[in-house]
Amino acid sequence: MSEDRLRLLVVGAGRMGRVHLRAIEASSAAVATVVVEPFDAARESLSGQGFEVWPSLDDALAAGGFDAALIAAPSPLHPGLVASLMAAGVPTLCEKPLGLHSNDTAQAAALAADAGVALQIGYWRRFVPELQVLRDEIASGQLGDIAMIQAWQWDGEPPAAAFRLTSGGPLLDMGVHEFDMVRWLTGQDIALLAVVDSGVNSVEPVEGDPESVLATGKLSGGGVAVISLGRRFDRGDCCWVEVIGTRGSRRCEFMIGDAGDVVFQSALVAQVDAFVAMVRGAPSSAATADDAVAALRAVELGTAMYANQHT
Ligand SMILES: NC(=O)c1ccc[n+]([C@@H]2O[C@H](COP(=O)([O-])OP(=O)(O)OC[C@H]3O[C@@H](n4cnc5c(N)ncnc54)[C@H](O)[C@@H]3O)[C@@H](O)[C@H]2O)c1
Repeated sequence: MSEDRLRLLVVGAGRMGRVHLRAIEASSAAVATVVVEPFDAARESLSGQGFEVWPSLDDALAAGGFDAALIAAPSPLHPGLVASLMAAGVPTLCEKPLGLHSNDTAQAAALAADAGVALQIGYWRRFVPELQVLRDEIASGQLGDIAMIQAWQWDGEPPAAAFRLTSGGPLLDMGVHEFDMVRWLTGQDIALLAVVDSGVNSVEPVEGDPESVLATGKLSGGGVAVISLGRRFDRGDCCWVEVIGTRGSRRCEFMIGDAGDVVFQSALVAQVDAFVAMVRGAPSSAATADDAVAALRAVELGTAMYANQHT
Protein backbone atom coordinates (compact mmCIF):
# COMPACT_ATOMS: atom_id res chain seq x y z
CA MET A 1 0.00 0.00 0.00
CA SER A 2 1.54 3.31 -1.06
CA GLU A 3 0.51 5.03 2.23
CA ASP A 4 2.77 2.57 4.13
CA ARG A 5 5.73 3.55 2.01
CA LEU A 6 8.33 5.99 3.24
CA ARG A 7 8.01 9.20 1.19
CA LEU A 8 11.36 10.10 -0.36
CA LEU A 9 12.85 13.35 -1.59
CA VAL A 10 15.36 12.62 -4.38
CA VAL A 11 18.00 15.37 -4.63
CA GLY A 12 19.51 15.43 -8.13
CA ALA A 13 17.91 13.73 -11.12
CA GLY A 14 20.84 13.17 -13.48
CA ARG A 15 22.28 9.80 -14.52
CA MET A 16 22.25 8.17 -11.06
CA GLY A 17 19.21 10.03 -9.71
CA ARG A 18 17.08 8.51 -12.49
CA VAL A 19 18.49 5.03 -11.79
CA HIS A 20 17.46 5.54 -8.14
CA LEU A 21 13.99 6.74 -9.19
CA ARG A 22 13.54 3.42 -11.06
CA ALA A 23 14.80 1.46 -8.03
CA ILE A 24 12.40 3.35 -5.72
CA GLU A 25 9.56 2.56 -8.13
CA ALA A 26 10.46 -1.13 -7.80
CA SER A 27 10.60 -0.93 -3.99
CA SER A 28 7.55 -1.82 -1.94
CA ALA A 29 8.93 0.16 1.02
CA ALA A 30 9.50 3.62 -0.51
CA VAL A 31 7.88 6.06 -2.89
CA ALA A 32 9.43 9.18 -4.47
CA THR A 33 7.13 12.12 -3.72
CA VAL A 34 9.49 15.08 -4.28
CA VAL A 35 12.49 15.66 -6.57
CA VAL A 36 15.02 18.51 -6.55
CA GLU A 37 16.68 19.25 -9.89
CA PRO A 38 18.12 22.71 -10.70
CA PHE A 39 18.61 22.07 -14.43
CA ASP A 40 15.47 23.46 -16.22
CA ALA A 41 15.32 20.94 -19.08
CA ALA A 42 15.85 18.00 -16.72
CA ARG A 43 13.10 19.35 -14.44
CA GLU A 44 10.67 19.66 -17.36
CA SER A 45 11.37 16.06 -18.43
CA LEU A 46 10.30 14.93 -14.93
CA SER A 47 6.89 16.58 -14.92
CA GLY A 48 3.77 14.41 -14.82
CA GLN A 49 5.51 11.48 -13.12
CA GLY A 50 3.64 11.72 -9.81
CA PHE A 51 6.11 13.73 -7.73
CA GLU A 52 6.60 17.43 -6.98
CA VAL A 53 9.70 18.85 -8.67
CA TRP A 54 11.60 21.81 -7.19
CA PRO A 55 14.71 23.67 -8.40
CA SER A 56 16.44 23.77 -5.00
CA LEU A 57 16.66 21.89 -1.72
CA ASP A 58 15.53 25.02 0.16
CA ASP A 59 12.30 25.07 -1.92
CA ALA A 60 11.68 21.39 -1.18
CA LEU A 61 12.39 21.78 2.55
CA ALA A 62 9.95 24.72 2.70
CA ALA A 63 7.22 22.78 0.86
CA GLY A 64 7.69 19.41 2.66
CA GLY A 65 5.80 16.30 1.59
CA PHE A 66 8.56 13.75 2.31
CA ASP A 67 9.88 11.72 5.27
CA ALA A 68 13.48 11.12 4.18
CA ALA A 69 15.92 12.03 1.40
CA LEU A 70 18.19 10.34 -1.14
CA ILE A 71 21.06 12.50 -2.49
CA ALA A 72 22.23 11.86 -6.07
CA ALA A 73 23.64 15.34 -6.81
CA PRO A 74 27.30 15.89 -7.84
CA SER A 75 29.78 14.57 -5.24
CA PRO A 76 31.33 17.94 -4.23
CA LEU A 77 27.85 19.09 -3.09
CA HIS A 78 27.17 16.10 -0.83
CA PRO A 79 28.56 17.52 2.48
CA GLY A 80 26.57 20.79 2.14
CA LEU A 81 23.36 18.98 1.18
CA VAL A 82 23.79 16.51 4.06
CA ALA A 83 24.36 19.44 6.46
CA SER A 84 21.07 21.09 5.35
CA LEU A 85 19.14 17.82 5.64
CA MET A 86 20.61 16.95 9.05
CA ALA A 87 19.76 20.46 10.31
CA ALA A 88 16.18 19.90 9.11
CA GLY A 89 16.07 16.47 10.84
CA VAL A 90 15.63 14.54 7.55
CA PRO A 91 17.04 10.96 7.52
CA THR A 92 19.27 10.69 4.45
CA LEU A 93 20.70 8.09 2.09
CA CYS A 94 23.62 9.84 0.34
CA GLU A 95 25.31 8.56 -2.80
CA LYS A 96 29.02 7.84 -2.55
CA PRO A 97 31.40 9.57 -2.04
CA LEU A 98 30.25 11.83 0.81
CA GLY A 99 32.27 14.73 -0.64
CA LEU A 100 35.75 14.79 -2.10
CA HIS A 101 37.75 15.38 1.10
CA SER A 102 37.65 13.18 4.20
CA ASN A 103 37.64 16.22 6.53
CA ASP A 104 34.34 17.36 4.95
CA THR A 105 33.02 13.81 5.22
CA ALA A 106 34.02 13.60 8.89
CA GLN A 107 32.30 16.94 9.54
CA ALA A 108 29.08 15.68 7.89
CA ALA A 109 29.33 12.47 9.95
CA ALA A 110 29.66 14.53 13.15
CA LEU A 111 26.64 16.68 12.20
CA ALA A 112 24.53 13.54 11.72
CA ALA A 113 25.71 12.07 15.04
CA ASP A 114 25.04 15.35 16.92
CA ALA A 115 21.59 15.68 15.33
CA GLY A 116 20.78 12.00 15.99
CA VAL A 117 19.50 11.74 12.40
CA ALA A 118 20.04 8.58 10.29
CA LEU A 119 22.67 8.91 7.55
CA GLN A 120 23.42 5.97 5.23
CA ILE A 121 25.96 5.99 2.38
CA GLY A 122 25.19 4.38 -0.98
CA TYR A 123 27.79 1.61 -1.09
CA TRP A 124 25.47 -0.80 -2.94
CA ARG A 125 27.91 -3.76 -3.02
CA ARG A 126 26.77 -4.50 0.54
CA PHE A 127 23.41 -5.52 -0.96
CA VAL A 128 24.69 -8.01 -3.56
CA PRO A 129 23.73 -11.53 -2.31
CA GLU A 130 26.83 -13.18 -3.85
CA LEU A 131 29.08 -10.76 -1.96
CA GLN A 132 27.12 -11.25 1.28
CA VAL A 133 27.86 -15.02 0.97
CA LEU A 134 31.54 -14.30 0.32
CA ARG A 135 31.68 -12.03 3.39
CA ASP A 136 30.14 -14.76 5.55
CA GLU A 137 32.65 -17.31 4.20
CA ILE A 138 35.56 -15.00 5.05
CA ALA A 139 34.15 -14.19 8.50
CA SER A 140 33.62 -17.90 9.30
CA GLY A 141 37.28 -18.64 8.53
CA GLN A 142 36.33 -20.98 5.65
CA LEU A 143 38.97 -19.38 3.40
CA GLY A 144 41.60 -19.17 6.15
CA ASP A 145 43.77 -16.07 6.46
CA ILE A 146 43.37 -13.68 3.55
CA ALA A 147 46.60 -13.58 1.56
CA MET A 148 45.27 -11.40 -1.24
CA ILE A 149 42.09 -9.70 -2.38
CA GLN A 150 41.83 -8.24 -5.86
CA ALA A 151 38.93 -6.00 -6.94
CA TRP A 152 38.26 -4.86 -10.48
CA GLN A 153 35.85 -2.14 -11.64
CA TRP A 154 35.91 -1.48 -15.37
CA ASP A 155 33.24 0.66 -17.05
CA GLY A 156 32.03 0.18 -20.62
CA GLU A 157 32.59 3.84 -21.33
CA PRO A 158 33.51 6.90 -19.29
CA PRO A 159 30.88 9.25 -17.89
CA ALA A 160 30.48 12.72 -19.48
CA ALA A 161 33.57 14.96 -19.41
CA ALA A 162 31.70 17.47 -17.18
CA PHE A 163 31.22 14.70 -14.58
CA ARG A 164 34.84 13.52 -14.87
CA LEU A 165 36.15 17.05 -14.26
CA THR A 166 34.48 17.33 -10.83
CA SER A 167 34.24 13.70 -9.66
CA GLY A 168 37.71 13.53 -8.09
CA GLY A 169 39.13 11.13 -10.73
CA PRO A 170 38.76 7.33 -10.91
CA LEU A 171 40.81 6.48 -7.79
CA LEU A 172 38.29 8.52 -5.79
CA ASP A 173 35.04 8.29 -7.78
CA MET A 174 35.33 4.57 -8.64
CA GLY A 175 37.91 3.50 -6.06
CA VAL A 176 35.82 4.34 -2.98
CA HIS A 177 33.49 1.47 -3.92
CA GLU A 178 36.42 -0.96 -3.92
CA PHE A 179 37.94 0.39 -0.69
CA ASP A 180 34.58 0.09 1.04
CA MET A 181 33.97 -3.38 -0.41
CA VAL A 182 37.40 -4.68 0.64
CA ARG A 183 36.97 -3.27 4.18
CA TRP A 184 33.45 -4.68 4.44
CA LEU A 185 34.33 -8.12 3.01
CA THR A 186 37.49 -8.68 5.04
CA GLY A 187 36.83 -6.61 8.16
CA GLN A 188 40.32 -5.15 7.62
CA ASP A 189 41.64 -1.69 6.74
CA ILE A 190 43.86 -0.95 3.75
CA ALA A 191 47.04 1.10 3.80
CA LEU A 192 47.98 1.91 0.21
CA LEU A 193 51.59 1.41 -0.84
CA ALA A 194 51.59 2.28 -4.53
CA VAL A 195 49.37 3.80 -7.19
CA VAL A 196 50.03 3.76 -10.94
CA ASP A 197 47.84 5.38 -13.58
CA SER A 198 47.76 5.50 -17.35
CA GLY A 199 47.50 9.28 -17.62
CA VAL A 200 44.70 10.94 -19.59
CA ASN A 201 43.58 9.69 -22.97
CA SER A 202 45.33 11.71 -25.68
CA VAL A 203 42.31 11.53 -28.02
CA GLU A 204 39.74 12.65 -25.44
CA PRO A 205 41.74 14.17 -22.55
CA VAL A 206 39.93 15.05 -19.31
CA GLU A 207 42.19 16.88 -16.90
CA GLY A 208 42.82 15.01 -13.63
CA ASP A 209 40.97 11.93 -14.87
CA PRO A 210 43.28 9.13 -16.07
CA GLU A 211 41.81 6.26 -18.09
CA SER A 212 43.00 3.48 -15.79
CA VAL A 213 44.45 3.16 -12.29
CA LEU A 214 46.06 0.32 -10.34
CA ALA A 215 46.40 0.67 -6.55
CA THR A 216 48.08 -1.85 -4.26
CA GLY A 217 48.15 -1.88 -0.50
CA LYS A 218 48.53 -3.91 2.64
CA LEU A 219 45.55 -5.17 4.63
CA SER A 220 45.70 -4.63 8.38
CA GLY A 221 45.68 -8.45 8.79
CA GLY A 222 48.86 -8.75 6.70
CA GLY A 223 47.49 -9.68 3.26
CA VAL A 224 47.70 -7.71 0.03
CA ALA A 225 44.92 -5.71 -1.68
CA VAL A 226 44.97 -4.91 -5.41
CA ILE A 227 42.43 -2.51 -6.95
CA SER A 228 42.09 -2.16 -10.71
CA LEU A 229 39.95 0.61 -12.23
CA GLY A 230 39.30 1.56 -15.84
CA ARG A 231 37.14 3.79 -17.98
CA ARG A 232 36.67 1.69 -21.16
CA PHE A 233 35.93 -2.04 -21.19
CA ASP A 234 34.67 -4.04 -24.17
CA ARG A 235 32.20 -6.06 -22.04
CA GLY A 236 30.40 -3.01 -20.60
CA ASP A 237 30.23 -1.99 -16.92
CA CYS A 238 31.82 -4.88 -15.02
CA CYS A 239 32.97 -5.55 -11.45
CA TRP A 240 34.54 -8.65 -10.00
CA VAL A 241 36.56 -9.69 -6.98
CA GLU A 242 38.96 -12.53 -6.18
CA VAL A 243 39.94 -13.59 -2.69
CA ILE A 244 42.84 -15.96 -2.01
CA GLY A 245 43.07 -17.35 1.49
CA THR A 246 45.31 -19.93 3.15
CA ARG A 247 42.46 -22.52 3.05
CA GLY A 248 40.48 -21.57 -0.05
CA SER A 249 39.86 -19.05 -2.79
CA ARG A 250 36.82 -17.49 -4.46
CA ARG A 251 36.31 -15.48 -7.62
CA CYS A 252 32.98 -13.59 -7.81
CA GLU A 253 32.08 -12.05 -11.16
CA PHE A 254 29.14 -10.31 -9.56
CA MET A 255 28.48 -7.65 -12.22
CA ILE A 256 29.31 -8.73 -15.76
CA GLY A 257 27.72 -7.75 -19.08
CA ASP A 258 23.94 -7.36 -19.52
CA ALA A 259 23.16 -9.46 -16.42
CA GLY A 260 25.12 -6.88 -14.42
CA ASP A 261 22.33 -4.32 -14.85
CA VAL A 262 19.92 -6.63 -13.03
CA VAL A 263 22.40 -7.14 -10.17
CA PHE A 264 22.93 -3.36 -9.89
CA GLN A 265 19.20 -2.54 -9.94
CA SER A 266 18.36 -5.30 -7.42
CA ALA A 267 21.10 -4.06 -5.08
CA LEU A 268 19.75 -0.50 -5.28
CA VAL A 269 16.24 -1.73 -4.42
CA ALA A 270 17.60 -3.75 -1.47
CA GLN A 271 19.66 -0.70 -0.42
CA VAL A 272 16.65 1.64 -0.34
CA ASP A 273 14.59 -1.04 1.45
CA ALA A 274 17.33 -1.32 4.10
CA PHE A 275 17.38 2.47 4.43
CA VAL A 276 13.62 2.54 5.04
CA ALA A 277 13.97 -0.23 7.63
CA MET A 278 16.77 1.71 9.37
CA VAL A 279 14.69 4.90 9.43
CA ARG A 280 11.95 2.83 11.06
CA GLY A 281 14.34 1.55 13.72
CA ALA A 282 15.78 -1.71 12.36
CA PRO A 283 19.51 -2.43 12.75
CA SER A 284 21.47 -1.70 9.58
CA SER A 285 24.31 -3.42 7.75
CA ALA A 286 24.63 -0.52 5.29
CA ALA A 287 27.66 1.76 5.06
CA THR A 288 27.79 4.51 7.67
CA ALA A 289 29.30 7.98 7.41
CA ASP A 290 32.33 6.60 9.32
CA ASP A 291 32.76 3.96 6.58
CA ALA A 292 32.65 6.82 4.03
CA VAL A 293 35.41 8.63 5.95
CA ALA A 294 37.56 5.45 5.97
CA ALA A 295 37.14 4.93 2.20
CA LEU A 296 38.10 8.53 1.44
CA ARG A 297 41.11 8.42 3.80
CA ALA A 298 42.38 5.35 1.91
CA VAL A 299 42.05 7.31 -1.36
CA GLU A 300 43.87 10.31 0.12
CA LEU A 301 46.72 8.06 1.27
CA GLY A 302 46.97 6.74 -2.30
CA THR A 303 46.88 10.21 -3.80
CA ALA A 304 49.64 11.41 -1.45
CA MET A 305 51.66 8.28 -2.26
CA TYR A 306 51.30 8.92 -5.98
CA ALA A 307 52.34 12.58 -5.57
CA ASN A 308 55.46 11.48 -3.61
CA GLN A 309 56.39 8.96 -6.29
CA HIS A 310 56.28 11.74 -8.91
CA THR A 311 58.24 14.49 -7.15
N1 LIG B 1 26.77 4.15 -6.61
C1 LIG B 1 27.12 4.14 -7.89
O1 LIG B 1 27.44 3.10 -8.45
C2 LIG B 1 27.13 5.44 -8.64
C3 LIG B 1 27.14 5.43 -10.03
C4 LIG B 1 27.13 6.67 -10.68
C5 LIG B 1 27.14 7.84 -9.94
N2 LIG B 1 27.15 7.80 -8.58
C6 LIG B 1 27.17 9.03 -7.78
O2 LIG B 1 25.94 9.70 -7.95
C7 LIG B 1 26.16 11.11 -7.90
C8 LIG B 1 25.56 11.75 -9.14
O3 LIG B 1 26.24 11.25 -10.26
P1 LIG B 1 25.55 11.32 -11.71
O4 LIG B 1 26.36 10.45 -12.58
O5 LIG B 1 24.09 11.12 -11.61
O6 LIG B 1 25.84 12.84 -12.09
P2 LIG B 1 24.98 13.74 -13.07
O7 LIG B 1 25.83 14.94 -13.34
O8 LIG B 1 24.47 12.93 -14.21
O9 LIG B 1 23.71 14.15 -12.20
C9 LIG B 1 23.76 15.06 -11.13
C10 LIG B 1 22.44 15.82 -11.13
O10 LIG B 1 22.40 16.65 -9.98
C11 LIG B 1 21.88 17.91 -10.37
N3 LIG B 1 22.31 18.94 -9.43
C12 LIG B 1 23.33 19.84 -9.54
N4 LIG B 1 23.35 20.65 -8.46
C13 LIG B 1 22.35 20.24 -7.64
C14 LIG B 1 21.86 20.69 -6.38
N5 LIG B 1 22.43 21.71 -5.74
N6 LIG B 1 20.80 20.05 -5.85
C15 LIG B 1 20.21 19.02 -6.49
N7 LIG B 1 20.63 18.56 -7.70
C16 LIG B 1 21.69 19.15 -8.25
C17 LIG B 1 22.41 18.11 -11.79
O11 LIG B 1 21.64 19.10 -12.51
C18 LIG B 1 22.28 16.72 -12.37
O12 LIG B 1 21.02 16.49 -12.95
C19 LIG B 1 27.67 11.32 -7.75
O13 LIG B 1 27.97 11.54 -6.40
C20 LIG B 1 28.25 9.99 -8.22
O14 LIG B 1 29.49 9.68 -7.61
C21 LIG B 1 27.12 6.63 -7.93
